[in-house]
Amino acid sequence: MTQHQLVLILDFGGQYNQLIARRVREHNVYCEVKSYKTTLDEIRALAPIGIIFTGGPNSVYDANSPKCDPALFELGIPVLGICYGCQLMAITLGGQVVPAEADTAREFGKTKTFYDAACPLFAGLPAEGISWMSHNDYMAQVPPGFSLPAHTDQCPNAAIADVQRGFYGVQFHPEVNHTENGSQMLRNFLYEVCHAKGDWTMEEFKNTSIQAIREKVGNGQVLLALSGGVDSSVAAALLAEAVGRQLTCVFVDHGLLRKNEGDEVEAAFARWDINLVRVDASARFLGRLAGVSDPETKRKIIGEEFIRVFEAEGKKIGQVDYLVQGTIYPDVIESGLGDAAVIKSHHNVGGLPDYVDFKEIIEPLRQLFKDEVRQLGRELNLPDYLVKRQPFPGPGLAIRIIGEITEDKLALLREADYIFRDEIAKANLEDTMNQYFAVLTNMRSVGVMGDGRTYDYTLALRSVTTTDFMTADWARIPYEVLDKVSVRIVNEVGHINRIVYDITSKPPATIEWE
Ligand code: XMP
Repeated sequence: MTQHQLVLILDFGGQYNQLIARRVREHNVYCEVKSYKTTLDEIRALAPIGIIFTGGPNSVYDANSPKCDPALFELGIPVLGICYGCQLMAITLGGQVVPAEADTAREFGKTKTFYDAACPLFAGLPAEGISWMSHNDYMAQVPPGFSLPAHTDQCPNAAIADVQRGFYGVQFHPEVNHTENGSQMLRNFLYEVCHAKGDWTMEEFKNTSIQAIREKVGNGQVLLALSGGVDSSVAAALLAEAVGRQLTCVFVDHGLLRKNEGDEVEAAFARWDINLVRVDASARFLGRLAGVSDPETKRKIIGEEFIRVFEAEGKKIGQVDYLVQGTIYPDVIESGLGDAAVIKSHHNVGGLPDYVDFKEIIEPLRQLFKDEVRQLGRELNLPDYLVKRQPFPGPGLAIRIIGEITEDKLALLREADYIFRDEIAKANLEDTMNQYFAVLTNMRSVGVMGDGRTYDYTLALRSVTTTDFMTADWARIPYEVLDKVSVRIVNEVGHINRIVYDITSKPPATIEWE
């Protein structure tokens, strides 16, 4: 589709593969992560300007460890090997790798490392710094023709280089933040060794994507389920820019949204000439949820009802050729690249039935990382509150009201949650936490207000910091901010007389309460 230079990242099963890819993209160079099994013909067809071998959990001298075709080194393409990738390069080109004895060159964690600035990989960087090591094996003999441009106190060959052929290997991990100047080393590889032009920008991506979408869609009709989350909003904005009236966005308001949410999403898209169908399905959802208090039953009802509403709206539109999904690159990588461990088989959430018949599914964001999706959103002039939005679960406030859901409880929670978000914004703390919200517990307790006794709800505040939402820590919100939130909620909302702050991490708790 787009014509930009490509760096190929060959995945040998390391844990930092996505991080390597993000670092490369941050330097405005497009890259793709592919299995180490990618054939030479496929590599030739991709015509990468450089190849990076990732780390991996194996030992290169094990018979079954992942290898590469030795002919890869004859393609005339620069290669950077990281950790396992470095050892693989060494062994393939005639070096020797052995298990490190406990008292010799096995290294883990932050390690003082000395660099030779004459090596293009370390050009312009300080002669020493901390690097992040994680290796059991040791290069007992480096391949012929290679120099040793970095060492540690333990290990004479923290890096190997064949400047003539453009082959570099590092025992440490330049992609992790613990390695001082690591990002700059990757940049050196890209610009000094591979001669990258830096042609990967969101502006370029936007323009070429719009053009490609127009060519593909022609006069066809396109349908998109808009949830108001970042991915679907950015996909919608891109499609809106590309095909305007041929796009129909269906935004289902299930009555479980946060305060002002429906209006905000609608307003953000008002400037495009698209068909935006906002379906008020709250009566239908709340009707089916009446009297239900079991969390899993709530979730199932909402999931199913969403599909039914979407189907009904799809039928009203008539012939739709294309369906848009907001799949992003981590979803693609995590769905498995071959032998590497499958973290999860991605099924795009958005409430879409699998069996709806479309000519084609368009996934315009499938090359992008989350931060790139946000950049693209800014490039498309989506307002910050949509682009920076914290995740909001599909079942919405239904899983933040413990027990039965009623209109009254929803109204209380909406106000309380709004005040919490408002105070976090006023204290400029939005960027210090990844998800924060209020939960209306089912518990009531005795309080005193004015001179009278109250018997009202306990509201919980939840705020977490996390990178992947699989594990999370509770955010250390300053007491003064918590105090303001508490005072405001109790005074302004009514029927809430006690506020608690959730100080459990995940695990053992989860982020949401249900
Ligand atoms: P938990 O509660 O499992 O949440 O720690 C992890 C992250 O997932 C979000 N979440 C959902 N998102 N549909 C979604 O689209 C869901 O049913 C759902 N349940 C939880 C949650 O908000 C958090 O970001």
